[in-house]
Amino acid sequence: ANERESMYLVSEYASTYFQNILWESELGKAIGLSYFKERGFTEETIKKFGLGYCLDQWDGFTTAALDQGYKLEYLEKTGLTIVKEDTNNPNNPKKFDRFKGRVMFPIHSLSGRVLGFGGRILTNDKKAAKYLNSPESDIYHKSKVLYGIYHAKQAIAKEDNCFLVEGYTDVIQFYQRGIHNVVSSSGTALTPEQIRLINRLTKNVTVLFDGDAAGLRASLRGVDLILEQGMNVRICTFPEGEDPDSFAKNNELDEVEQFLKDNSKDFIRFKASLLVKEALDDPIKRADTVRDIVNSISKIPDRIKKEIYVQECAQIMNISESVLFSTLAQIGKKDQ
Ligand code: CTP
Ligand code: MN
Ligand code: MN
Ligand code: MN
Ligand code: MN
Repeated sequence: ANERESMYLVSEYASTYFQNILWESELGKAIGLSYFKERGFTEETIKKFGLGYCLDQWDGFTTAALDQGYKLEYLEKTGLTIVKEDTNNPNNPKKFDRFKGRVMFPIHSLSGRVLGFGGRILTNDKKAAKYLNSPESDIYHKSKVLYGIYHAKQAIAKEDNCFLVEGYTDVIQFYQRGIHNVVSSSGTALTPEQIRLINRLTKNVTVLFDGDAAGLRASLRGVDLILEQGMNVRICTFPEGEDPDSFAKNNELDEVEQFLKDNSKDFIRFKASLLVKEALDDPIKRADTVRDIVNSISKIPDRIKKEIYVQECAQIMNISESVLFSTLAQIGKKDQ
């Protein structure tokens, strides 16, 4: 088998191993499984997403994998094992499990192969990184992957819409609640490659970001990238302190659906609504918002859509269409 295939195989093995620990070992059940259950995940959901646990030992997983004949080279290349030179013992470097003591979220490709992992600490210790992810490798390119795409792809096509959320648990909780067309960029800034992955399945994206400042920034950054690919984008923010995970955990399906329906706005209304919160009567801020909206409109490839959005912006912001068109033309010149 070639190198990449060997990396896939060891990742597959790791996923199975972490699941076995979660379901079969006393510590796995007491720590990992109870953690997921406390978060409200059912056994069916935990199995569906292949969630697991890596024991809080230095090299429990690595030792098991080596015993099974998996090569250290691929354990290291996938980042599952951290190898450190030991000056006292040059022929036998030290090996550590990267995900020691974390609950595990395997990240699947479109076709369902395990590419890498996210691992969460169980405490809310602010000093340690909450999530640790697999490093970039020949099989895991984080800018090209969407968490949940394997489980969501059919529903995305069927519903002709994709919900885009921030995190692993947002995907899982939505899925469990009955909304299956959901994927996550998993903490990385959304990339054109990730959007292209969605673009093959639907032209409609609804961005659902956390009700905090970071979530707002992330959703705003994503909007233009989605428009550039000729897709339609709606945005829905959650109440302060909530994210899709907590919201779906605490509300029934019809309530979640109603909330999404009532609070999803197209990007113009969304940007305009931010202004309303800030200072509707401040002319400088209003001008900035108009410019910002026109800038987003300029990314839309389709001219008819562009025109329709200009009309909408003119109405909402109470400004003449002709000024907007000439601003658009100026932006067009600058880009050439
Ligand atoms: N993330 C990460 N590394 C961190 C923090 C976050 O990779 N140190 C990524 C994870 O994919 C996470 C996403 O960013 O799911 C969103 O971050 P955040 O909202 O902070 O986490 P939640 O998904 O809400 O995680 P949880 O509910 O488990 O606290
Ligand atoms: Mn590659
Ligand atoms: Mn957040
Ligand atoms: Mn969150
Ligand atoms: Mn959360």
